[in-house]
Amino acid sequence: MAEQKSIHGLWRSRWLFILAATGSAVGLGNIWKFPYITGENGGGAFVLVYLACIAIIGIPVMIAEVSLGRMGRQSPINTMQAISKDQKANPFWGSIGWMGALSGFFILSFYSVIAGWALAYVFRMAGGAFDGATPAQAGEIFSGLISNPEVLLAWHTIFMVITIAIVARGVNKGLERAISIMMPLLFLILVVLLGYSMNTDGFAEGFSFLFSFDFSKITGESLMVALGHAFFTLSLGMGAIMAYGAYMPANTSVGKTVLTVAALDTIIALVAGLVIFPVVFSNGMEAAAGPGLLFQTLPVAFSQIPAGTFFGTLFFILVGFAALSSAISLGEPVVAWAVEAKGVSRATAATWLGIIIWLLGIGTVLSFNLWSEYTLFGKTFFDTLDFLTANIMLPLGGLLIAVFVGWKMRSQDVAAEVRMQNPVVYNVWKLILQFIAPLAIAAVLINGLI
Ligand code: PFF
Ligand code: NA
Repeated sequence: MAEQKSIHGLWRSRWLFILAATGSAVGLGNIWKFPYITGENGGGAFVLVYLACIAIIGIPVMIAEVSLGRMGRQSPINTMQAISKDQKANPFWGSIGWMGALSGFFILSFYSVIAGWALAYVFRMAGGAFDGATPAQAGEIFSGLISNPEVLLAWHTIFMVITIAIVARGVNKGLERAISIMMPLLFLILVVLLGYSMNTDGFAEGFSFLFSFDFSKITGESLMVALGHAFFTLSLGMGAIMAYGAYMPANTSVGKTVLTVAALDTIIALVAGLVIFPVVFSNGMEAAAGPGLLFQTLPVAFSQIPAGTFFGTLFFILVGFAALSSAISLGEPVVAWAVEAKGVSRATAATWLGIIIWLLGIGTVLSFNLWSEYTLFGKTFFDTLDFLTANIMLPLGGLLIAVFVGWKMRSQDVAAEVRMQNPVVYNVWKLILQFIAPLAIAAVLINGLI
């Protein structure tokens, strides 16, 4: 394919691509979801399977996705259409971008609601609601929050408005700078919290919960959750990272860049686990508490640290920013598509798409209170969206991307785009895309569904 140009601009450097992609990857998935699904799935064995999924499947698929983006230099929908046409592939492959767009809608709709919890906690923390709180009191504050649809709706609305405002201003302005300040700060605060948790009585227990492997605990369902989370946490399988790849400078090594992003994402998830589980165990709390885990354990930790009110407030602000830098990448693919296809301004595109996503988010708001009794196969509206996207749509998107790059594209075009210097590494990568990733994903999906 001839050299393409992005009409949306480019990241100013390789380093800014890394920061932006890390901003997309590091989010609620690391700090909120990873600890609670690890708790629900029994700990160490789950963590090991998750790490294997990242290394064997996630990283190779991420390299493929970024490369496709950079090759097409458009929104994922148009990039996939252009490349599949250029490669003379069946038009089906060009439609992968559409499924990704749908996943993005679904994910952002509930992501915004959970991010809203973090925003609500900024004010509860700052107002001293958790000063000296016992685990039981922290639990009550949390249930009080999620049982109140008006409050959840208000925070969901605020978060969506901020997200839309940023996406509307484009990739270059503000976003790059905001990320480069927030990400290191988030990391710093996590390290401070790690220092605290290392000094709790529960650290050894928390550590061994995360890192001791009891394979009897692995089930088809937990394999599916681990694989799905590998995709969710790396922002794979829906086009977010493809969209970011479209703005990547031409002369950068995709492989090395992707390794950096995946490593940072993994480290931050593990540190979050090492902060949360010791607090859980030293306070006799429930590791399998579900989505409320982060929101019930950390306030207890903060209530025991000197200046905990300050650090707690700061922490939830940073969770909000981590969520925001991911939310933007969820919105970017569809907004970029609307700008390209409909010729509308970014502001118009972001507003309309934002309204649709906001409406969908109301379902998640209600699933924690008024609609909590309405379930499908035992899953609430939120559970259903979460399960459908993370455990099915993203892995399926990843599978299709792997097959497309591995089998449907001309080898020399793929090689020219990824430009891996080491032929052994390149061949292993190709082999994974052709065989290992598709078979493993298909096996896990089939196994988990039956
Ligand atoms: N990777 C983000 C997280 O771990 O919180 C969530 C996410 C962002 C998923 C973008 C998918 C996506 F396209
Ligand atoms: Na992540």
